[in-house]
Amino acid sequence: MLSRLANPLRNVVKTVTRKQHTKPIKLGSPSQAVFDRESKYGAHNYGPLPVALSRGEGVFVWDVEGNRYYDFLSAYSAVNQGHCHPKIIKALKDQADTLTLASRAFYTDCLGEYAEYVTELFGYDKVLPMNTGVEGGETANKLARKWGYEVKGIPKNQAKIIFAEGNFWGRTLAAISTSTDPSSYEGFGPFMPGYEVIPYNDLNALEKACQDPNVCGFMVEPIQGEAGVVVPHDGYLKGIREICDTHNVLWMADEVQTGLCRTGRWLAVDHEDVRPDIVILGKALSGGVLPVSAILADDEIMLTIKPGEHGSTYGGNPLACKVAIAALECMLEEKMAENAQYLGEILRNELSKLPKDVVSIVRGKGLLNAIVINEKFDAWKVCVRLQENGLLAKPTHGDIIRFAPPLTMTEDQLRECIEIISRVVMSFQ
Ligand SMILES: Cc1ncc(COP(=O)(O)O)c(C=O)c1O
Repeated sequence: MLSRLANPLRNVVKTVTRKQHTKPIKLGSPSQAVFDRESKYGAHNYGPLPVALSRGEGVFVWDVEGNRYYDFLSAYSAVNQGHCHPKIIKALKDQADTLTLASRAFYTDCLGEYAEYVTELFGYDKVLPMNTGVEGGETANKLARKWGYEVKGIPKNQAKIIFAEGNFWGRTLAAISTSTDPSSYEGFGPFMPGYEVIPYNDLNALEKACQDPNVCGFMVEPIQGEAGVVVPHDGYLKGIREICDTHNVLWMADEVQTGLCRTGRWLAVDHEDVRPDIVILGKALSGGVLPVSAILADDEIMLTIKPGEHGSTYGGNPLACKVAIAALECMLEEKMAENAQYLGEILRNELSKLPKDVVSIVRGKGLLNAIVINEKFDAWKVCVRLQENGLLAKPTHGDIIRFAPPLTMTEDQLRECIEIISRVVMSFQ
């Protein structure tokens, strides 16, 4: 993983032979020109698959040479509603012609409408709008600290926040300060104080950590996405709720990747019918149209931050508000949570039939899934072969491939994808 990050050109193939849907990419081809230009002028902080996309619609994307692919990543679950969802694009265009940004120096006629809609939908008193997912996490951390000092009575600058091993919540210095993945933190110190990391899916460790009276919050993903779709045991989320209640600690659920119907429920915490104190949303809150994140909490927590103490120029801008309403409405109207739940069962059931000597583990919830590829095969090579067969997926952490298509997928389309995946996996036997 690290070497890929360090040298993305390693993955820029000279000639890729595609078997099914796609034509070969040749040196000097339109695709190759895209790879070369991006590598020459763009920082090398990503190692993309060798595919150059130029169009998306629903569950499909097309490359610059006109080859069509099923998108099985959905921009890391930002495109739950499918590419260029007409309702979201209409909201974007309509508002773009009217008012895009006023800053929070003034009221607009959009923020209140959005705030009312999103808080009623999720059942919290207030929303604090931001842009990227990591800003959502940062905001939640600041809120928890402020609450810790003003409500819990933690002595000044002593507040602690607990995280779980394998967490991923973005790339800022605070986020990498909690990371246990060297490719995230190595070379970027010194790190932020006030954090403690405990094992994921371990209620005893949480119970012990929360006994420290200076702990103000526990931030955790209900399913760890970037760690490789790690699903905790049943009862973990309920246990977190009980421990946090017992010790007067805020539970912050990072639902940036798991939220918004991805796992077959509106929020992944709904699987255990529990309510975190702070919910962080991002990614699909705009359906892939622009960065929109949100922090939901009740007044006792949210109102500890006063005017001038936190904000963002673009947070809560009119364009984002209208887009977010449309993005949420279409999930409701098209029953995307139900579809994710239904299709997820089929996907895992079928993938579990694949030969164990290639696919050793299948796991996930709803349409957030992963397969673990036996270490003697290279997950990157599996993804390149999937690409050659018209399906785009990306490895995470070496041997894990995430399968997260848009939630608008039909059963017929899913079955075609399962057929592609099976054929590719069998070809490695
Ligand atoms: C669980 C989780 N939280 C936060 C983030 C950060 O989101 P962003 O990349 O929009 O800052 C991610 C991104 O993958 C994520 O998976």
